[in-house]
Amino acid sequence: MFVSENLSVNEKGHLTAGGVDTVELAKQYGTPLYVMDENLIRKHCASFKNSIDKYYDGKGLVCYASKAFCCKEMCRVMMSEGIGLDVVSIGELYTAKCAGADFEKICFHGNNKTDEELEFAVENNVGRIIVDNIFELERLNSIAEKKNVTANIMFRIKPGVDAHTHNFIRTGQIDSKFGFALETGEAFEAVKEAVSCSHIHLKGLHCHIGSQIFDIAPFEEAARVMLEFIAKIKKELDFEVDELNLGGGFGIMYTEDNDPVPYENYMEKVSEVVKSCCNQLNIKQPFILIEPGRSIAGPAGITLYTVGGVKHIPDIRTYVSIDGGMIDNPRYILYQSEYEALVANRAGEPRDTKVTIAGKCCESGDLIGEGMKLQKVEPGDVIAVCATGAYNYSMASNYNRIPRPPVVFIKDGQSRVVVKRETLEEIVANDI
Ligand code: LLP
Repeated sequence: MFVSENLSVNEKGHLTAGGVDTVELAKQYGTPLYVMDENLIRKHCASFKNSIDKYYDGKGLVCYASKAFCCKEMCRVMMSEGIGLDVVSIGELYTAKCAGADFEKICFHGNNKTDEELEFAVENNVGRIIVDNIFELERLNSIAEKKNVTANIMFRIKPGVDAHTHNFIRTGQIDSKFGFALETGEAFEAVKEAVSCSHIHLKGLHCHIGSQIFDIAPFEEAARVMLEFIAKIKKELDFEVDELNLGGGFGIMYTEDNDPVPYENYMEKVSEVVKSCCNQLNIKQPFILIEPGRSIAGPAGITLYTVGGVKHIPDIRTYVSIDGGMIDNPRYILYQSEYEALVANRAGEPRDTKVTIAGKCCESGDLIGEGMKLQKVEPGDVIAVCATGAYNYSMASNYNRIPRPPVVFIKDGQSRVVVKRETLEEIVANDI
């Protein structure tokens, strides 16, 4: 009935998340409000981690892609689950540091890391800096040299697997701002250079084929391509690559049209491919890393809003105006992403009206969705938008100088604030 397994309806007809009445949460904390179910987050962490244990003899590491949802408490939850972090800026690194994260288990990404970022990463002994281009390799080598340390790196490789077609295709030349191309020889040249760099240790190779992917085949294909490259490096440079990072991208359910694969199945299938390719190619089995983001945070989140007004435009549409919108969830205005929503205080009733949920920004495109099925709705109702745990809070803005909503974690029937609501003082805090 609901897109996320932790959602249900109680005897009052209210939507519950992780057993907690969402209408009560809206009353207690105000709206807009992000609500994240900690137990569900932990459950998803465990599925990825257990799948590596079960299918790849534990020889791997799950690094949560914190760009999906990053705050100190999320980093702490990941640590307590034995999960590392994928970070993509000094801000995410700093958050991880404040939370006391184990930097050995951090993968630091980005296609244009600044010197400040690289220095911070080197000083704090980040386990793997994912080098994106040759200029970065050279800059990093000299930063590490100055500090008299060796930087552990992986190279971001474009494996030429396009996962965003129904049947994935191998492209000759991929157009992407990220990473080194295989087919031009660029990646091989970079490996040669890294091997000879005085202050660089090339730990492994990385690829990430996309996001919200439902097929396993493109992941298998990417693994194959990467292992063939590892075999070439061994043969031609006599250098053994220890680690293979296959990125994230595992799809989740936003609407009933989405049909995600159980998370365990990815590692099951990919492990088979890795093991058999390694045998065929006569290379050692690499330590595997994966970087799920959306699949850990997404289904665990909902956003609660209060309806301010309902505007029926005869024969055209009905606008339902909420107290948030693109400031807390810019995914419709950016990608026309689809979500399911319901009236939380009337969750048991049929969703038999079609509405456009409109945000409060001075922007016509500020919508949560069009043609959304909803229960009968009136001003004052609480609307819940489902599966908003990933790329909502982390992509929120202060457009129109609207303060960002707080984030509440729920666990075992209790709720607690993990990110406070922004205040008006904070809105002007940096103004001179
Ligand atoms: N690893 C790397 C190197 C990535 O670039 C990403 C996502 C991930 C892991 C995590 O992917 P996930 O498991 O979350 O699909 N803002 C967009 C999504 C951008 C994803 C960018 N990279 C959205 O709202 O859909």
